[in-house]
Amino acid sequence: MFTPPFSSDAMFHRKSLLPVINPDKAGNPLKHPAPKAPRIFADSATRSEIEPLFRAGIVNGITTNPTLLKKAGAKSWGEAKEIMKDLCALLKPHPVSLELTELAEDAMVRQASELSELGENSIIKVPIGGYRAVNPAADPYTGLKVIRRLWERGIKVNTTLIFNTTQALWAANAGATYVSPFLGRLADYGYKHDQPGRTPGNSLYWVEDPKNAKGDQVMHNSEYVASGGALKDAGARLIFEISTVFANYQIKTEILAASFRNPVQLTECLLAGADILTVPAAVLATVADHPLSDEGMKAFAEDSKAFGK
Ligand code: G3P
Repeated sequence: MFTPPFSSDAMFHRKSLLPVINPDKAGNPLKHPAPKAPRIFADSATRSEIEPLFRAGIVNGITTNPTLLKKAGAKSWGEAKEIMKDLCALLKPHPVSLELTELAEDAMVRQASELSELGENSIIKVPIGGYRAVNPAADPYTGLKVIRRLWERGIKVNTTLIFNTTQALWAANAGATYVSPFLGRLADYGYKHDQPGRTPGNSLYWVEDPKNAKGDQVMHNSEYVASGGALKDAGARLIFEISTVFANYQIKTEILAASFRNPVQLTECLLAGADILTVPAAVLATVADHPLSDEGMKAFAEDSKAFGK
């Protein structure tokens, strides 16, 4: 398990910046029993998924990207903008991340202004790198230059596609308000590429096999982690590294952990020091469940029949 070697004032300071989570019905800040809890965002652009979660106080932010907008039905940039505008209005004043699709510095800065106008709660999502993967002649510092220019204009940035601590540090230095490490994709990569029997990097993902080789049920990872089992997920390790580096240098950029595959990763990210978790609706739908809760509820429901109506 990634136990921080210290609990510095800086680490606490970053967390103490978290706002009160839920307003009361009149919109006044309500004293929440967990005011310093991490915030939970919906990783979605689909209003029908987000709205019930938002109304129930389960999420208070959204992260979108071009893939999620396409999934939400956008077939043109105009339609994508309509969806983003609608989501900003729904969530106001909570943050909604809107991703740039332009690939060149000046065009990206212009597009950031365009997206900022969709809602005052918009946050501009800027990919940290990968520009040369799309255009070999591209400037490798494109993302960092854009973050810097947006910071100078007071536009809040969520830096996306973060896969290592270096990328997170450079984004923070450029002025990003949030960094989004994609921990699920890292673990997916390990799952595909790790060699079984060698360095463990993907033990979490054996949970996808419902039976082991002998045909027995494989233990759920929630039990495994709760029992103090080894934490070997590369994604959680990344969150822990970024969290520690930011604490060491009193960096206030928030760590917005993204790309979740299962609820175990949520716990791991919290142990590792994430400030915000952005979670797909399908994963959020499982957070209140556990096989033993199911068993317990069935027994309570059965026994309560003894009391009649
Ligand atoms: O917020 C980033 C997230 O949408 C990426 O998730 O599932 O495509 O790896 P995924």
